[in-house]
Amino acid sequence: MKITIIPGDGIGREVVKQAVKVLDRIADKYKCNFEFEEALLGGAAIDATGNPIPEETIHKCKSSDAVILGAVGGPKWDNQPGHLRPEKGLLALRKELGVFANLRPAILFPQLKSASTLKDEVLGDGLDIMIVRELIGGAYFGEKKRINIEDGQRAYDTIDYCTNDIKRIAKKSFEVARKRGKKITLVDKANVLETSRLWREIVTNMSEDYKDVEVNYMYVDNAAMQLIRNPKQFDVILTENMFGDILSDEASMLTGSLGMLPSASVGEGNIGLYEPIHGSAPDIAGQDKANPIGTIMSTAMMLRYSFDMEDAAKDIENAVSKVMDKGYRTGDIMENGMEIVGTEEMGALIAAEI
Ligand code: IPM
Ligand code: MG
Repeated sequence: MKITIIPGDGIGREVVKQAVKVLDRIADKYKCNFEFEEALLGGAAIDATGNPIPEETIHKCKSSDAVILGAVGGPKWDNQPGHLRPEKGLLALRKELGVFANLRPAILFPQLKSASTLKDEVLGDGLDIMIVRELIGGAYFGEKKRINIEDGQRAYDTIDYCTNDIKRIAKKSFEVARKRGKKITLVDKANVLETSRLWREIVTNMSEDYKDVEVNYMYVDNAAMQLIRNPKQFDVILTENMFGDILSDEASMLTGSLGMLPSASVGEGNIGLYEPIHGSAPDIAGQDKANPIGTIMSTAMMLRYSFDMEDAAKDIENAVSKVMDKGYRTGDIMENGMEIVGTEEMGALIAAEI
């Protein structure tokens, strides 16, 4: 199995190293072979080549079975023009790989309940929400422009979706819902946006073919509120690109830390892109402080979705849980009475539990 490793920027390099550690252990246990190749993306690629996504990176990713990505971006590149920003590299990679479905689970580890900002009675026996975010359409990829006008400038970004863009992501979310709580909440702004009205029509029509799945609809402003008020009402949240970006950060915090959560980006093709949902955290980069669990859990998703290795995926998830049980914590999830460990040690502890 060929895996392209993209460290990216900031804490990216430190966290992907832990994913490799864990995969080496899985390879031993399951007598399989992972071949790793590194590629440049984002700020690191801009520094080395002047381009946030060099041709070579696209080529490497397309000729591998899966891609593991750390994070991109940082203050160093914040003043670059839009097409030369690190984020542009990430967006172009998602587009090149055709990974239109971004699966972002927000699962609360019971051991971390007190790290959540929500009250105990709201969390109950835990949380298990799956956000299915459309990843290669909407405002991120629609026409955008900046024009000089008489008294300043005018800028616009366009939210743009076609029937088929919506159908394929909706289909994915129905499939995901079938394997879980069989409930989809379509989050949109259909009281204002035409794209949202198209999403609603299509999802409503498709629901005829998935009668076992309950579908309901919620405006995004209300959804942002409901996620905090009563998160347990959600099973699968289906939504467009930008709403999904925002709501998945919100949902992650319900679980205690942005650092814990993985994501899988998949499409029609076979190459999946696996990345934690957190950013490059330049303030703690290179200090062995980052939480590698989001990346390690993304690796579990890779084994599950790209390589059909369900047992190995569960092994990783159980190993993370055991390390939590033993009281080891990185700084972001540290609590009284626990033992603080660095990035390297957290990776080693998890690998050792497999
Ligand atoms: C994410 C990130 C990216 C996004 C940024 C870095 C472009 O916030 O993966 O959620 O907005 O998609
Ligand atoms: Mg985001």
